[in-house]
Amino acid sequence: MGTEREANEKASGEGDASQLEAASIADVSVEVATVDHTLHKICRKYRKTRRKPKGLKRLQAHLLSIPHLAVIITAVVFVVVVIMWSLLWVFLFRRESNSGVYFAGMFRVANVEFIPEYRQAESREFVSMASKIQHVVSNVFKVSSVARLYKQAIISDLSNNDKGGVLVHFWMAFVVPQLRSQSVCEECVEAIFRDSVHSSMMNRSSVGYLLGLPVDMDSILINAVERWDYSSSGAGSQCAGKLYASLPGLSVPLNVFSPWGGVSCHVKLTSAPGSVIRLTVTSFVIEPSDCVSDGLSVYDALLPMRGRILHRMCEPVSSSFSLVSTSNVMLLSFRLTDGNKSFRGHFEAIAEEVSMSQIETHIEPDIIGQIYSPFHPSLLPPQCFCTWKFETPSSALGVALQFENYVLKPKEVNGCEHGWWKVNEIIFCGSYVGHHTVFRIADHSPEVEFRCSSRISAQPFQASYSSYNISQPCPENHFLCSTGLCVEKSRRCDGLDDCQDESDEVFCSRPTKNCGGNSPLHPMFVCNGETDCTNGIDEINCTQETPCSAIRYQCNSGSCILKKNAKCDGILDCQDHSDEADCACGRPSSVKKTGSPPGRERIVGGDNSVEGEWPWQVSLHFSGNLYCGASVLSSDWLVSAAHCFSKERLSDPRYWSAHLGMLTQGSAKHVAEIQRIVVHEYYNEYTFDYDIALLQLKKPWPPSLSPLVQPVCLPPSSHAVTDSHRCVVTGWGYRHEDDKVLPSVLQKADVSIVSQTDCKKSLGPVSSRMLCAGVPSGERDACRGDSGGPLACQAPGGGRWFLIGIVSWGSGCGRPNLPGVYTRVNKFTSWIYSHIS
Ligand code: ARG
Repeated sequence: MGTEREANEKASGEGDASQLEAASIADVSVEVATVDHTLHKICRKYRKTRRKPKGLKRLQAHLLSIPHLAVIITAVVFVVVVIMWSLLWVFLFRRESNSGVYFAGMFRVANVEFIPEYRQAESREFVSMASKIQHVVSNVFKVSSVARLYKQAIISDLSNNDKGGVLVHFWMAFVVPQLRSQSVCEECVEAIFRDSVHSSMMNRSSVGYLLGLPVDMDSILINAVERWDYSSSGAGSQCAGKLYASLPGLSVPLNVFSPWGGVSCHVKLTSAPGSVIRLTVTSFVIEPSDCVSDGLSVYDALLPMRGRILHRMCEPVSSSFSLVSTSNVMLLSFRLTDGNKSFRGHFEAIAEEVSMSQIETHIEPDIIGQIYSPFHPSLLPPQCFCTWKFETPSSALGVALQFENYVLKPKEVNGCEHGWWKVNEIIFCGSYVGHHTVFRIADHSPEVEFRCSSRISAQPFQASYSSYNISQPCPENHFLCSTGLCVEKSRRCDGLDDCQDESDEVFCSRPTKNCGGNSPLHPMFVCNGETDCTNGIDEINCTQETPCSAIRYQCNSGSCILKKNAKCDGILDCQDHSDEADCACGRPSSVKKTGSPPGRERIVGGDNSVEGEWPWQVSLHFSGNLYCGASVLSSDWLVSAAHCFSKERLSDPRYWSAHLGMLTQGSAKHVAEIQRIVVHEYYNEYTFDYDIALLQLKKPWPPSLSPLVQPVCLPPSSHAVTDSHRCVVTGWGYRHEDDKVLPSVLQKADVSIVSQTDCKKSLGPVSSRMLCAGVPSGERDACRGDSGGPLACQAPGGGRWFLIGIVSWGSGCGRPNLPGVYTRVNKFTSWIYSHIS
């Protein structure tokens, strides 16, 4: 006992839990044999009676006599009861039988010298050390409250890190009656072990002398694992490898190919103490499936412990990137199905980045330098620390840090999830955003501290630093945005989000229609499809070529036109006609009106829809129940809200189904399975910023479903919604914020777009990726269950319907002056296309 190999070879005695399960399967067949046996006996008896034709008549008469008849009926009833009982036992109670519960754990044995032989599980030294440790672990659990359920511990690896001693990785198996599965929870098992170490502690150190074994309490980590992990990383695994990088900087190639039938594979990497491991992924060829069939999980340990996950690769990788461990061990857990799946890369030992890398930077005005996240350009590990000290030539000059897609904000109640910063003793949290930001420090010699704080590896960052004039951060005639950027004053309130967070576009007075004046007409009125000026000058020359910007419509050729809503409006505007290409979208099907009369069943002011009215509407069911809405974008892609998928189980596509072409719950024309869920990488679960996700269907929906199932049109980024558009939110969500019953018929409610300024006034933190819609009285709104569903708007004159918003959040439902908040879809047009096309 003691090593993985031995445990797997062992055929009797304590045995591993897989044997136990095999034993329980054998039990089942014994019971079936009993039933068979009984049946056999009956049959034999029956056959015997048939073989005696002479006495048959006599027997018949004998049998038909009343007392005998009673005996026979009783016997038959008895046999039937026995059979039924046996079947019941086999099918019901056996299910409630024992099952294996598995854990992976690690702890450090202090004050023990590590010897290189420990790296080989076959060595005598390993076996003797492992059995000693295994004995101690077993003894702890054999006298614990779960002693009867404890099966065994297997020591899988002994390694050493810079803390000294020996780092032990181990498996544990319990055999638990299913009804008692709670008694061996992860916390309980860890607590038992910790308590034992704790009670064996002699002095103030964290090391307890557990049956003479010096175990470091601070190093204990125990995680529940799947049976799959337990069995696939043992000796029975198709592919298990241990690789050691001895020399720093020497790169060891690592290539894995899936053989016929696929492979599940654990590769353990170790390097010398004091170093960390950098894994470079050059390419990863797989079928994207959210890691359900193909994927690679990288762990910051030698066993697949959830708490130590570094990175998960569920999508193919074509451009190389690297990631780093926090110590000298790393585990790669591959799952590759049949087909030409492959992983190519290499790993190397690198020096642990000095925890206190001080960069003294003397900044001269107009000189720009760069600071980088630790291990840049590798992904950031979950633990790192770095400080930068800056010095500008004069006390009038501060330091400005310009980030490409990262922002620092004062720390709020929640911890920092994407980087912890201390700038001259004030704490800030970092987060990723889709635009530039500038962080200004009004001090001429600031000290900036950065700590990694993500649970798993995070995107690296870099910032350019420069000095700036503290009394006047922006140049003359410039406006200071909340993102820290400086934009020309003339750009304030011009209808364009120059600041990237709309801070130049809020609290603007409503622009006047300067129709005849010499100053240019406000961009909001120009070529928006409506005649704002009586002389019509706002709608002339709308298709002539013009310099491109975020509010200009861009044709496929790359040239831009002024007409904002050129896409699929039925008029050829672009010379390449691209504006009218791919326009099979946004048209309700003209199906005869059915269902209950509209106007009765109100969801926060909604009415019943009719069949085919919103053919893009999808009802998303999680574990069989309505959970969110979504919209059809194409034959195999849907769009919804990121927050519908943000928790662990919610992100697993296997639990979801998409109900298409449905008016009344339960009557979908098509139910589709989900292949993968792409949640926006910058989605923030506290602020609901970037609340968008894409869902790919396992199979495209059949074209015969059209017109009851149809895509909604995707607005180009220039798309402008005016007051004369009709906007409707649809869904099967609650009809009132404290309702308990969901409506069965799809509800629809007309709402109006609320200006960003008004929305911020009433709801506060509304980002430029959000859009508000509602009615002042609040009587029409979306509510819980509508999330992810569409807010679609139609141009006047019966144009096509465009997906303008995705139901995201609100303050209650249908409250006066508190509009609903939606994801602003036109901010994500290129993100969407980058995934679906
Ligand atoms: N977050 C909600 C959901 O998960 C949607 C809330 C919308 N609220 C509103 N008042 N518009 O279904």
